[in-house]
Amino acid sequence: MIFNKIHILIFTVFIMVLTACKKPVKNTIDMYSIIPYPQNLEIKDGRFSLNKETKFVISKNLEALKTSSTVFRDFVKKQTGFNLNIDTTLHVKTNYIAVAIDSSMHAEEAYSLSVKNKTIHIAGGSRKGIFNGLQSLRHLLNIDHFKAGQVFNQIDVPNVDIIDAPRYAWRGIMIDESRHFFGKEKIKQLLDLMSLQKLNKFHWHLTDEPGWRIEIKKYPKLTSIGAKGTFSDPDAEAQFYTQEDIKEVIAFASQRNIEVIPEIDMPGHASAAVNAYPELSGGGSEKHPHFTFHPARTSTYLFLTNVLKEVVQLFPSKYIHIGADEVSFGNEQWRTDKEVALLMKKEQLKTLKDVETYFINRIRDSILAMKKEVIGWDEIIEHNMNPEKTVAMWWRHDKPDVLKKGLKNNYKMILCPRKPLYFDFVQDSSHNVGRRWDGFCPIDAIYTFPDSLNINGLNDSKVLGIQANLWTEHIDTKKRFDFMLYPRISALAEAAWTKKNSKSFENFEERLKKMIKVYQQENIYYFDHFSPENTQEPGRILKPNWAKKFSTYKN
Ligand code: ACM
Repeated sequence: MIFNKIHILIFTVFIMVLTACKKPVKNTIDMYSIIPYPQNLEIKDGRFSLNKETKFVISKNLEALKTSSTVFRDFVKKQTGFNLNIDTTLHVKTNYIAVAIDSSMHAEEAYSLSVKNKTIHIAGGSRKGIFNGLQSLRHLLNIDHFKAGQVFNQIDVPNVDIIDAPRYAWRGIMIDESRHFFGKEKIKQLLDLMSLQKLNKFHWHLTDEPGWRIEIKKYPKLTSIGAKGTFSDPDAEAQFYTQEDIKEVIAFASQRNIEVIPEIDMPGHASAAVNAYPELSGGGSEKHPHFTFHPARTSTYLFLTNVLKEVVQLFPSKYIHIGADEVSFGNEQWRTDKEVALLMKKEQLKTLKDVETYFINRIRDSILAMKKEVIGWDEIIEHNMNPEKTVAMWWRHDKPDVLKKGLKNNYKMILCPRKPLYFDFVQDSSHNVGRRWDGFCPIDAIYTFPDSLNINGLNDSKVLGIQANLWTEHIDTKKRFDFMLYPRISALAEAAWTKKNSKSFENFEERLKKMIKVYQQENIYYFDHFSPENTQEPGRILKPNWAKKFSTYKN
């Protein structure tokens, strides 16, 4: 009798276990913490188990797809120890991740990702799409926030069907390293975290008033003299990137689907260059001494063309950014300069604005001859450029007409208005060090951009995308650099990638909690958006000391 009862019990438990095994494992939305959120994501029940036997299948385009998958495979190896060995035989039937280019996908960055029990398939419009699909998979693995080298037997990936493509092709961040310098390790960390969130343009502001930060072999004084000092400390030792450093950063970025765009600011914001080569000075103002290159000297154009030739050799980007902003801050000496007067007569230039246009047009011609396109801040649209080869960055949020005019005149536009996309502005009402301008740049305002803009034409193909800019007058430490960037870059990434109808700030906040664990693992001093009192605002308002060293000499 007892014997029978035990048998029945064992049998019942056996049936229960069997039924539980057969039932697909239920998945929940929080297992899909992908930032930026995909255009279409269908939750499926069941899981794929990644383990040390999992193969990485590539059947065509071997070299290209090997390259696009290196970052992912290296990351998995580092975090888990699993070698995702590449298999090209087509004999693997189960436990694999397969990547393939699908030429029917029209957008190069589009991808699909299907996780289904024993297989993962990623298809991309190009190798860039494959890279994006692998980054989404990286989010689904949920292992970024573990210490590298942790021992796992397997990592479960929730089943899913994703079909995804970016809203905007340009999803950028600009870092100003002229005012303060952060160095390549900090920049590489940013590039990696950008790429995890599918930000794909790194605009590098390398020259300005306080310091020149890129080695140019033909003009060594640009770095031996021009790289000395920072916005807050005129005596700081020379800090700059050698050409080898630049190549290293570009290679690191390009492995991560990030294009690096150099900015060599002109004709204004030139003080550091002019400090090294005073004969190039076109004068300045009391607050901005030796601010401009001299617009009437042939030597200026020769110098800048030689500089740009070296820059073009280094940067594979199809763009060169030439600044072109705020020239009126320091061009008053052009008014009384004899050489400028002669130039105006010869070229029939009526105003100082015409002189500026003359300058910009000459540089544009040099850049076009080098087979590159020009990017400038939004002032550039005032200079009769050829719109099909010119991109303007709309930064003056208080001048919406400039954006409208740019679009109307067929310029390609990137939206980076101070509000809400200048990350040197404060992000919380309790903060004091960063800038404000009738308001500031909190994370929700970044998230809802650009839909919050009341401007027609946002979906116009002329709007290439959006970008956040980090000016560093008051950012002199890595701690403050982190605090101003993170987690705002996460909101930027979703604003740039995800279409309006798929966006939800509440849902984003839930997913942000996982991203914050990644920031913690990276030892980043991020701003705690959920409990601001947990993260003290680092830094202080800095005095602009750099101008002292430029005020003494004459041109
Ligand atoms: C700028 O903020 N001067 C582009």
